[in-house]
Amino acid sequence: MSDYFEQDEITKGYDSQIFKRILSYIKPYKKFAVITLFALIVTTIGDLVTPVIIQRVIDHALVPNPHASALSPIEQGFLDNGRFQYLFAMTIFTLCILLLVFLFTYIQTWTTSYLGQLVMKDMRLQLFKRTVRMSTSFLSKHPVGRIVTRLTSDVETINSFFTDVLIAFLKDLSIMIGVIIVLFLLSWKLALVVLVTLPPVLIATNISRIKSRDAYRKQRVASSKVNSYLSERLSGVSVVQLFRGEGKSKKEFAERNGEFLKASLKEMYVFATFRPIIDWLSTLTTVAVLIVGAAFVLRGEETLGTLFAFINLVGMFYGPVGDIAEKYTLLQSAMAGGERVFKLLDTEDFIPDTGETKNTPTFRGHIDFENVHFSYKQNEEVLKGLNFTVEPGEMAAIVGYTGAGKTTITNVLTRLWDIDSGLIKLDGIPVKDIPLSALRSACLPVLQDVFLFSGTVADNISLGLPLSDAQIEDAARAVHAHEFISKLPDGYKTKLSEGASNISSGQRQLISFARVIAHNPAIVILDEATSSIDTETEKLIQLGMEKVLQGRTSIVIAHRLSTIRHADRILALSNGILVESGKHDALIAKNGLYATLYKLQYEGEIEE
Ligand SMILES: Nc1ncnc2c1ncn2[C@@H]1O[C@H](COP(=O)(O)OP(=O)(O)OP(=O)(O)O)[C@@H](O)[C@H]1O
Ligand SMILES: [Mg+2]
Repeated sequence: MSDYFEQDEITKGYDSQIFKRILSYIKPYKKFAVITLFALIVTTIGDLVTPVIIQRVIDHALVPNPHASALSPIEQGFLDNGRFQYLFAMTIFTLCILLLVFLFTYIQTWTTSYLGQLVMKDMRLQLFKRTVRMSTSFLSKHPVGRIVTRLTSDVETINSFFTDVLIAFLKDLSIMIGVIIVLFLLSWKLALVVLVTLPPVLIATNISRIKSRDAYRKQRVASSKVNSYLSERLSGVSVVQLFRGEGKSKKEFAERNGEFLKASLKEMYVFATFRPIIDWLSTLTTVAVLIVGAAFVLRGEETLGTLFAFINLVGMFYGPVGDIAEKYTLLQSAMAGGERVFKLLDTEDFIPDTGETKNTPTFRGHIDFENVHFSYKQNEEVLKGLNFTVEPGEMAAIVGYTGAGKTTITNVLTRLWDIDSGLIKLDGIPVKDIPLSALRSACLPVLQDVFLFSGTVADNISLGLPLSDAQIEDAARAVHAHEFISKLPDGYKTKLSEGASNISSGQRQLISFARVIAHNPAIVILDEATSSIDTETEKLIQLGMEKVLQGRTSIVIAHRLSTIRHADRILALSNGILVESGKHDALIAKNGLYATLYKLQYEGEIEE
């Protein structure tokens, strides 16, 4: 179980292929992307303009005017009418800019989140549409839990890519570049001082990026080990308890949990060292700017306002540097999530719907198996050259020990799986040439394990067909299911729980019979449940079954052999080979496999 998860852990850094593919999902929503970018530009400019305004205000309105030394400092600073007006105008201007930044930040946050949600919605739909078409062979090889993860948490990481990584990264980058440009515009000499501190920043960022990537990988592997162990042990918790495995499980879990902790701490450690280093570099740069800048100011080469703006801008520059390293982890998980999502989207494992027969006739129900070979796994043949024919309207019964391949016959006839060699024909047409939808509406199995969806009883009977309430009730009446359904709290509108565990297994059978009657297929395959039910319900099921089989070609896979005594043809299967076929009396007289099975059951019943 655990290696299912580990083999999935292909965690990458940045990958341009995946990046482009994620971006392609924005295409239908270009409008939002343009608005986002525009808002981003406006807020970035707004952020950068603020320190420049402060510089202006200091230099033009606060610093004493050297040419008016006759006035007292207070008069120079505040009572000068021109300065006051300037200060007032700048205040209003700054307020307007702040308001604008506020407004556009709101717009940008909103459109980004909206965009992310829309992309997620599209991606989930696309994934679901694809997955429900996947071949049974693919689905049986991939645990449901993992596919669900693709559709939920992996898609979620791609969303965080939009909201937390992409936009934030663009913003950080433009602020950093913008700051450097503004620095040079204000004073290239002081800007050079800031530039000197850049190489250590780049080195620190790079080291932390590599360290965090390694730590992240280890953390992911450890976390998936914990997850897979948890999901397996918890889904089988009653077995763990019955076999008194709590102690051992606890020890095994504690081990994995400890590894997870260690890996997580390593990741913390990378962040914990990186942040202070960047903070330290930021302070160092500020101090350097302050010392060198002060010297310039004293010599009259720079103004006080410029120095002030520089200190402000250095702070603005180092904020994003700290963020970028943390965003990197999110970028990695988005890339890994994207890779897994796209891998599933690119899987072409469908049962090929190659059927081209136009105007498929209403099938009469002639079934032909010609030398059919089939295996679920390579080299483990389950059907070994099967030959039989069922005439229209006939009832054929298949008997055999458990594991003989009876249910498998249903699977290959309805093309849940495709056969390896040989030919299966319906009314003389190879099933591969019949469109899947036509094949499956002509040939409907009642599965051994009845599966009902959570929903109402009526929904489960109509199951996709637009049937009226009356039609649903007729179908239920025909198989004697109406009686128990009408006794349910809400009748046909009673909600079934997941797995329909709120009704009995016999009742589930009856509902599945009603489902078949409602869908009215030409051929019915009845894979009888092995679980035993009370005689009352069994009688009802017997009656229901007769109704289902009436006027249809049918294949009945029976465990209670009394139900098939009147079959037109009994096929006895052993290890994927047909060993006997014929009517009940003939087979009993032959004293072979069927006779043995029959006697076993008959004697068993006598003893009871
Ligand atoms: N999805 C699967 N993947 C791999 N092997 C399978 C799968 N389903 C069935 N098998 C194997 O195929 C063989 C035939 O199984 P099948 O379900 O057809 O038996 P059956 O005759 O219906 O038995 P039962 O009477 O218990 O229902 C078994 O050996 C089983 O292990
Ligand atoms: Mg079976």
